Amino acid sequence: MRKKVIAGNWKMNNDLSESQNLITRLTSGLANLKINCDVIICPPYTSLSEANTLIKNTAIKLGAQNVYYEDNGAYTGEISPLMLKSVGCEYVIIGHSERRTIFKESNEMINKKIKKSLEHGLKVIFCIGETLEEREKNITNDVIRKQVMEGLQDISEKDISNMIIAYEPVWAIGTGRNATPQQAQDVHLFIRKLIEDKYSMSSADNLTIQYGGSVKPDNAKDLLSQPDIDGALVGGACLKAESFIEIIKAA
Ligand code: 13P
Repeated sequence: MRKKVIAGNWKMNNDLSESQNLITRLTSGLANLKINCDVIICPPYTSLSEANTLIKNTAIKLGAQNVYYEDNGAYTGEISPLMLKSVGCEYVIIGHSERRTIFKESNEMINKKIKKSLEHGLKVIFCIGETLEEREKNITNDVIRKQVMEGLQDISEKDISNMIIAYEPVWAIGTGRNATPQQAQDVHLFIRKLIEDKYSMSSADNLTIQYGGSVKPDNAKDLLSQPDIDGALVGGACLKAESFIEIIKAA
């Protein structure tokens, strides 16, 4: 039985004191809850070290929103997997659609980032998803297949057990228009089949596939009750402790 994973992607929000405030509210709100899922927060780089201190002895785990694929060197402005580990990160989000579109990250670059992160023992939340235009052209499955195959090129079956795939339809991100539970379920099942074909049935069965895109307290339960939806990658609704906790409760 796959355990559900609820992750909060803070994106470029919250300075240091705002981060302290949000984490304090989260930890106190979760303290007396019986939590049945894994909970991950992904603050901006500048708050990771402080977040790591504040979540000590809680059920919350730490992730980053991006990483570079070299260990160190002349790469002004970039952060390596080892640096993320040194501030307590266990996870890293790679391939988010905002990185793909705004920062022009290709499947090839995403693949390099995934490999380097896994090599250093980070767990990867690998994001994929189609645009509205692609959905309307009925090429969602083709887009997803290409992102999965190119993103996972030369990644071993053993490594896939340290990965989560997050299906985030681009048209549902930040728009308030979530995929219906059935639309999301259909793509999640398709992704699981791709993993079964590439690796094995047990790898596919064990893989956590999160849904992301306008997940809110009022739609979380319906989405998370689908058989192949194993969690959520939450943007806007994770910036308020109350709504993030409601989504955790739904899981
Ligand atoms: P929203 O929940 O704001 O739609 O963002 C989803 C997302 O991009 C999480 O990575």
